[in-house]
Parts: sequence; structure tokens; C-alpha cells
Amino acid sequence: MSTKIFGYANKISVRPGDAFDVFVSATGATTAQAQLVRLIHGDEHPSGPGFIEREVDCDANGEWDVHQQRTQIGSYLSVADSANKLDELQAFTLFAFVYPTLPATGDTQTILGRWDTTSRQGYRLEIGGNGKLAFRWSSSASSGEVQDHDALVAKTWYFVAVAVDPASGRVTLHRRNVVSRYNGLLSANAFADRAPARFEVRLNAPISTPDARFLIACADVSLPDDERWTAENFHGKIDRPGVLWYGAGEDALASLAKGQAPNATEKFIYWNTSAGYSVSGIGQMVVDTGPMGIHAHGQNYPVRGQTGWNWSGRHDSFHTGPEEYGGIEFHADAVIDCKWKVTRRITLPDGIKSGIYAFRLRIHDGKKMNEEYVVFFVRAKTPTAKLCLLVPTQSYLAYANEHLSLDAPGIQPMMGQPPIADDVDIEMYENPEFGYATYDVYADGGGVSYSSYLRPLFTMRPKYRMSSIGTPWQFPADLSIVAWLEQSGLDWELITDEDLHKEGLSALKRYKCVLTGSHPEYVSEQVLDAIEDYVGEGGRLMYLGGNGFYWSVTLDAANPAVMEVRKLDAGHRSWNARPGEHHLALNGRKGGLWKQLNRPPQKIFGIGSISEGWETGQGYTKMPDARDPSFAWVFDGIDTELFGDFGLAHSGSAGLEIDRYDLSKGTPPHTRILASSGEHSDNYVVFQDEIFYMQPGLTGTYDYRIRADMTYFDTKAGGAVFATGAISFGQALPINGFDNSISRLMSNVTRAFLKDELPSRFIDETLG
Ligand SMILES: [Fe+2]
Repeated sequence: MSTKIFGYANKISVRPGDAFDVFVSATGATTAQAQLVRLIHGDEHPSGPGFIEREVDCDANGEWDVHQQRTQIGSYLSVADSANKLDELQAFTLFAFVYPTLPATGDTQTILGRWDTTSRQGYRLEIGGNGKLAFRWSSSASSGEVQDHDALVAKTWYFVAVAVDPASGRVTLHRRNVVSRYNGLLSANAFADRAPARFEVRLNAPISTPDARFLIACADVSLPDDERWTAENFHGKIDRPGVLWYGAGEDALASLAKGQAPNATEKFIYWNTSAGYSVSGIGQMVVDTGPMGIHAHGQNYPVRGQTGWNWSGRHDSFHTGPEEYGGIEFHADAVIDCKWKVTRRITLPDGIKSGIYAFRLRIHDGKKMNEEYVVFFVRAKTPTAKLCLLVPTQSYLAYANEHLSLDAPGIQPMMGQPPIADDVDIEMYENPEFGYATYDVYADGGGVSYSSYLRPLFTMRPKYRMSSIGTPWQFPADLSIVAWLEQSGLDWELITDEDLHKEGLSALKRYKCVLTGSHPEYVSEQVLDAIEDYVGEGGRLMYLGGNGFYWSVTLDAANPAVMEVRKLDAGHRSWNARPGEHHLALNGRKGGLWKQLNRPPQKIFGIGSISEGWETGQGYTKMPDARDPSFAWVFDGIDTELFGDFGLAHSGSAGLEIDRYDLSKGTPPHTRILASSGEHSDNYVVFQDEIFYMQPGLTGTYDYRIRADMTYFDTKAGGAVFATGAISFGQALPINGFDNSISRLMSNVTRAFLKDELPSRFIDETLG
């Protein structure tokens, strides 16, 4: 057996003295060596300082008992039948609208029922491995199966039902194609036969009450130690499932197939999946509007806010037509929370300094997959520093365990190089149960709209290099900014996106200067608002990256470990939300780009995305405003016109993703361009959301817009934004032992921003 170790923590942001849990799974070892470390630098590139960590004293250091843990994958609905009402069923009907996305996988998919995959006992409405609808039952008294003749067609809505009637001895399976002009992949003209289908078999004895739990979109699994698990999950959408306490005839089924609720005088469960929407979206409870109130609850975040069987194309979202948003989308390979057993409860030392920390876990030789870093971010218990790093944890979540680098179509021409996979990348594919990034798609091709940190995150290991780009990305890249801070002698602290999302402006207000990470691409409204107000009220912000503040996301108020994003509009995206499914279920806001909500990053930061390229970087050339004596303080000690033509990311400080000044997108009119990059390669292409017509010449050697603009503007209250316009800026800081023009410029601006008065003022020259 190969030896491996994985872990995660249940908190991403903690304070000294805080307690949190670490979860570890290991194969081939029963103990691991745990050591608390402060992370200084991640990139092992030979031109930089290499990997740097410092060991920190902690009661939890030492030997931890570890074992292999199991992960539950697949989203589904559990049913809260505490009074065991479903045990009464003798004659019954199960029904639902279903939209299978992957109907013939070779494996059985459960629609709803009580089926134990271990004992093969119970009953359920299912889709067989051949894609055909079926009802199956098995107990000591009776067993059988009734199956459709034809396979279900993918991405097509059906009303399906089974009526079980012991009195007449009949089990009837029903399937109705309910395709409309708007609700599925295909037009009705694509079907040879859309007539309702009915299949009947004999029931020789009543079906006895199964031990299995009643579940929707998965089956039950009983394990020897009394643990319950799930399996045989459904791929696709389910709308308004329910149970009748009798075997329904054609008339009752026809009424249900029109979307009508069961007759109120009857005993039934009707999970009205379209009920419960508010202006802030919808939670995980699925309401039973029947007389018993047996509600269901989403597990592993089935996707709500999705169009239902009756979507008319008239509504953009559940805000205007909730009755058309009964679709709940399930994925057999979704995972939000590994739900491992706690390996170690940690209490952080009281005197620990704010910074980025990890539990380094090693088994055997501690090499390659025998080493894991469980990373977390420590805030100050009582903030005292004037300088703060805003750690872009929402963007880390967006990229967490990305498979884009090896799976996305066209990735090699896009990146201008082949991906180079290492052990960590291979291990990610060996462990699909650790889930995906929002750059990936599920097995059925559906986009991954949720991410969380309650699972091992390969991309948040400090030495990780993104295989398609060949450089560190996000978390490990940001460690180059951390390393600069550590050597600067400046007193600094950090907070995370999650802190800012929860606390708003008050979390930033006491800091004189705030630094972003290299690629703060995903931000919630709360984060964007707080930064805008911080600068407006006198705060100084250094936007040290590119393609920042691009996607609108949110965290789940009930569980901030979970983030939602919907990829749509014209943004650079690896999947596209379906028509009508553009609003975030967790907060009710439209997803997509902040630009499409009239908040392009230029309005707040001066610059916004224009291009990206992955094989080369450039330096910056001083622009005319750099010669204004008002900016002598920025360039003190930088005498050359061209500077920053080096770096750990493809040898340039201006590269990877780059942003530009654009008055048409709301760059404050008094913004100065201090320096710009240029002469980018033709691997740099204008962002598709910046153009209306495709044409030749939209690449680096042709298009004047393809450049990183280094900009500056101030605000009336004494705030200011300095922006670098490039992701690779931070990765240039460590070159030559931090003795270089980019490091000098960083020092000049940071130290000026920490003073009470700004060296130059421009706001009074501008708008009234
Ligand atoms: Fe990105």
C-alpha cells in the first residue's frame, strides 16, 4: 500500500488562543509527526529564496494517531421523518419531475425511495445503468422490478411515478415526457414518441417496511459499525418529488404531471422545491407542504435556484417566478465537507504572531505524498500593526483542487506550454472524493458552483505549482508577498476575505494600509463594499495583482466555509450557467462578473482586467506621470526607465494576468498612470468580455490595450489606491535577495502609505 497523508482544518481564520479541529487521513501509517510552522515563502524556484518555514512551539506538536478516513460524496436530500410516518406505507405512490443529465452511466441512480445498497433490500424509483426508468423492490415477503422499455433522454424533463397497490396486486410505472419549448436541451420535434408510457407488473405480497432510510437522489448504505452512508446518487435535477399514501390512478397522476399539488384531503408528502425563496435566495431545507410537514434537507449542497420542469423563459431568476424554479440539481461527485472524524483539537498558543501558519504533517520519510500542510491564517488577537495583508481566501477557494490545468479543452494553446504534472497533481486525480474547483465540471458536464475548505486542498499546499502555468498560483504565489513583508522589518498583520465578509469595514478600519494578494479575483459584495468604503474613508490600498475583483461570489451565512459562484456573461470561464440560472442561491444576487453589475474594478481600484498570458512576462516602463516631481517618492532609488524585467513568474514583474486604466469603465478621472508594461507576446489575448467583435490582432504584439498599468489615485479623506496591474508583481519581489527595483518601489509606496499624510494630493484637482 502506498503511504499518503491528507488533512484539513474546520477554520481558515483564527486568532491566538483559538481552538479549532484538524482532520487527517493517512494510509500505511498509524502515527504522523505534527509540527506547527509559520510559512514564509513557498516558491522553490532557484532564483528566489526557496521554501521557507519556521517551526513554532505548540502543545499539539509531536506524534498524532492517524488512520484512513472515508469521504461521503454526492449531493442528495435527507428526509426528516422523525415520527416514522413513512413506515406506514402499504399502498403508495412515489413521483417526481426529473431531468437526468447522465442517464446511462452503467451504474444505477436513485430518484427516491428506501433502498439499502448493502443488503439490496427496500424499494426505490431508479434509473438503471442502461438509462431506463425502473421501480425495484426487495424484501423477505416480496420482490420484483418494473422497467421502462426506452432509456430516458439526457437533459429532458419527465414526470415519473410508480403506484403500488397491494389490494389490486398491481405495480404500475409511469413516464411522461414534459419537454417544452424552453425547459430542456431538445425541441419536442426531436422525439419520435412523446406519449405517456405505462408499465405494469404483479405484486404477489405487500412490500414490507425496509430498514433503509427514505432518501432523495441517493440510496442508503449501512456499514458494520452502524454508520450510515449513501451511494448510487442521481445526476441531474429533481423538481417537486412526493409520496401519496395510496396507489394513484391515471387521473391523479395526470394532475401531478401538470404540476398540481396532491389533493389536500389526502395523506401525502409534497416536497415543493419551488417554495421558500426570498430576496436572499434559499437555504438547504426543502419544504413538505403536505399535512405532516416531513421536510427534506440538502446534503453536500445540492444546487438550488435552478430552473424547473415548467420554466417558461419569461423569468431570469426565482425573484420574479419562483414557481418556475423548483429544480434542485444533484451531482454524484459533489463534495463540500469530508466530515472526517476529528484527529486533533488544537488550541493555538496565546502569544502567536499574526501570519500564515500550517500544521506540517509527516509520515515515514516525510517526502512527497508523505507530507501534508494544513494551512490556516492567524489574525491578531488585538490588532496593533498599521499594515494589513488581506488574504484572498475566496479566490483560494475558487481554485481549490482545480483540474482545469489538465482537463480544460485548449489549455495547452492557452497557456503556451504543456502542463507538467507532479506527484500532487497525480494524487488529486487519485482522490476525486476531495472535490473540485469552480473551474471544473462534474461528471455530467455541469459546472462546479460551490467550493469549500472542509476537505484537503492540494492547491493550498505552500510549495504547490499550478501545472498548466508552471508557477505557483494564488496561495503559494502570495507567499512571495509574505516573504517580502517578513524581510521588510515592517509590523504587519493579516485578515482574510472571510473575516471581511463577516465583519465588513470594521475589520479594516484600524489599518493605515492594506495589501491585496496577487490574484483577488473572487469577491463577495461585503468584501467589495468594505474595500471601497475603506479607501473612501481614508484608507490606503495597494492592489498587488491582476484580474482582481472580477467574479461576484458569496459565502453561505450558515456555513462560511462554503462559497458559491456562477460563471456566466462574457467572463473568462470554464463553464457557463444554464439560461435562467444566473442568480446565487445563497444570497439571491446575480452571479457572473462584477462588471455586469456596474461595478467594474476600475471604479474602486483604478484598473481592471484586459489580458492574460502564461509563458512570458515583461517589465514596466515609466510613463510621463512618473516624471511629475509629485511622484518622486514612488521612484526613489529607481533610476532606469525600464524596471521590473525579472521575476519568479516567467521572468517578468508584469505578466500572467494584467489590468489596465480605462476611463470608460470608471477609472477615477484623476488617476495617474505611473508605469506600463508592453511588448507582450501573442500568448496574451484581449479578454473576451472587453470586445464585441472577434477580429485578427487582438494579441500582445498588436493591441495597444494589452498592458499592465501601474496607477495611483487618492480620495478626499486622505485615502489612496496604488495598483500594480499584474499578478506576477509579487513574484518579482524576492529576486536578488529582495534587492531589486520592484522591492524598492514596494517599500517606497508601503512606507509612504503608512504615514499620516500622503506625499501627493490630486483629488482636489478633480470632480466637484
Ligand atoms: Fe483567475
